[in-house]
Amino acid sequence: MAGVPPVQRGLEDVVALESKICFIDGREGRLIYEGYDIRDLAAKSSFEEVAYLLWYGRLPTGAQLAELRARFGVLRDLPAPVVELITAMPKDATPMDVLRTTVSALALFEPGEGKPGASSIGGAQRLTAAIPTILGVFHRYRSGLPPIRSRPELAQAAYLLYALLDRVPSELDARAVDVALILHADHELNASTFAARVTASTLSDLYSAVTSAVGTLKGPLHGGANERVMEMLDEIGTPERAEAVVHEKLAQHERIMGFGHRVYKVEDPRATILRDWSRRIGEERGNRRYYDTLLKVEEVVHREKGLYPNVDLYSGSIYSLLGIPHDLFTPIFAASRVAGWTAHVLEEYQDLRLIRPTAKYVGPTDLTYVPIAERAG
Ligand code: COA
Repeated sequence: MAGVPPVQRGLEDVVALESKICFIDGREGRLIYEGYDIRDLAAKSSFEEVAYLLWYGRLPTGAQLAELRARFGVLRDLPAPVVELITAMPKDATPMDVLRTTVSALALFEPGEGKPGASSIGGAQRLTAAIPTILGVFHRYRSGLPPIRSRPELAQAAYLLYALLDRVPSELDARAVDVALILHADHELNASTFAARVTASTLSDLYSAVTSAVGTLKGPLHGGANERVMEMLDEIGTPERAEAVVHEKLAQHERIMGFGHRVYKVEDPRATILRDWSRRIGEERGNRRYYDTLLKVEEVVHREKGLYPNVDLYSGSIYSLLGIPHDLFTPIFAASRVAGWTAHVLEEYQDLRLIRPTAKYVGPTDLTYVPIAERAG
């Protein structure tokens, strides 16, 4: 068709909007939230601090952080009908399906949150505080663990582990999860964040935008790679078998999960940090099998394909050593990324422009309408 610009499949390389939230430098391997390098944030801050940074565009003072923590403590508790809804769901439902449906249901119990706008910051905090509880209520119900109790004194990472495992974690375990939450909190216009912004750009509300995002994150091409890394680790078994198994997969043109990235042309900086945490948690538990195996896999994949690890290579090994079931890995991603989703939705409301691209039509245009009685099978 004359005059139609070329199709950018998957919107690759399309610059869709301006944002001040997140910058990925794929050549230098840097990830920046609101001007701060992820390496500094992972070393020095907490998930709550990062969520505040993404929402307000600046780091909190001590008093502001304490206030946000106190708010999270209160907002964690779910309305009773929402708990009833979760515990009426099929026990074999996937936690991501449960999360999507519950985020949507929660909107019905939040008066005033049905409208978009700056006031949605309250909804952003509510959703961020509530997701660990939603996951905890469902996981405990399906596993026969005791119901969750209010633990307002726990920081977000410790609360998430308590909600899922029914025990208050050690400082080291909580810090490992805190760092993982910091590293997953935002990543520019990834598919789920874009989905959230598309929904918000129609002037729909924050809960609808986050429901879209959870449904998008659920897809295996987005949120599920770390689970698949664990399947590969189970298949490999011991570090000595890594070389042979990876060679076999590459010979069969299989993709090795946890490697490669659309944006990073060097090592994903999140992988560098999580590699170190995988070693620390492994050594603390006297079990370096995952870490040693992944190092070997890295060596082979880099030698054979020149590919670098991404964020998903080491995160699953950390979660597994903490005792978290594999189907909760993507929901943990959501528990972190909700900070980024909601920050982007708030930014969209500030500078709203309906997101509505065009398609190149490749079908016919002059068919003759045939009445139904005259149509052949
Ligand atoms: N294992 C083996 N080969 C890989 C690979 C992987 N993980 N990732 C990319 N490649 C190869 C492709 O086969 C292709 O090779 P070819 O040119 O010989 O056909 C080349 O590298 C480019 O791949 P392409 O799919 O065009 O790159 P992309 O930038 O679109 O892909 C991913 C990015 C993330 C989709 C891709 O690297 C991938 O599938 N990784 C595994 C899944 C994963 O870890 N996802 C989490 C991302 S954070």
